[in-house]
Amino acid sequence: MFTTGLLLLSLAGCARPSVPSAVPKAAIAGPLAAVSNQELMLNLVAPAATDTWNLPEILTDPAQARKASPEEINSAWANVRRGAVTMTEVANLLVMPDRKIVPDGGVAVGGKGYLLADQIAALKRSKRPAFLKAAKGLQDTGAAALAAANRRDVPALLAGGLQIEDVCEACHTQLWYPAAAAQEK
Ligand code: HEC
Repeated sequence: MFTTGLLLLSLAGCARPSVPSAVPKAAIAGPLAAVSNQELMLNLVAPAATDTWNLPEILTDPAQARKASPEEINSAWANVRRGAVTMTEVANLLVMPDRKIVPDGGVAVGGKGYLLADQIAALKRSKRPAFLKAAKGLQDTGAAALAAANRRDVPALLAGGLQIEDVCEACHTQLWYPAAAAQEK
């Protein structure tokens, strides 16, 4: 077994240098924005927001908490922390230059008062300071949620849930559905 393992290892070691590097040159300068804004929203931003404010009953209801094991409680808190960490750092991903709004060939969720992906992209460029400010709002709220999760402070997180919606809207009403938002006022 041992010898076979060694043999495999050394074979793998020999094979490696002959494989041409698949990494494009540009990547050597640092990571690039690879997925769209939409994919960040659906896969990171929205689930992270849900994890930080839609707390499970074992954290919010004392009777349920008493029935839960310490492992279950710890795991529930780890989930909240993961959401808060994601929300905090995804703000940096959102503001990376040249990030597309939707994947190639994709469309932004729309309807009356909603902008098309090209219009959103144009606004993102022309209203860059407002976009940065909205992303910073998301980061600040994420950081506050993380601090609350570290303290295991349920009331702060439940109150934070409302603010989280505000930081989402701060960006959406400017870039995604300004006309619909203006009508609601
Ligand atoms: C800095 C700007 C910004 C912030 C902050 C922001 N969003 Fe978005 N979001 C956008 C833009 C632009 C779109 C429209 C284009 C797209 O789909 O990405 C969008 C779209 C979405 C969509 C629709 C995705 C789809 O196509 O189905 C969801 C869901 C979403 N955001 C959730 C959230 C939540 C939840 C928050 C707050 C926790 C949030 N967003 C904060 C910019 C932002």
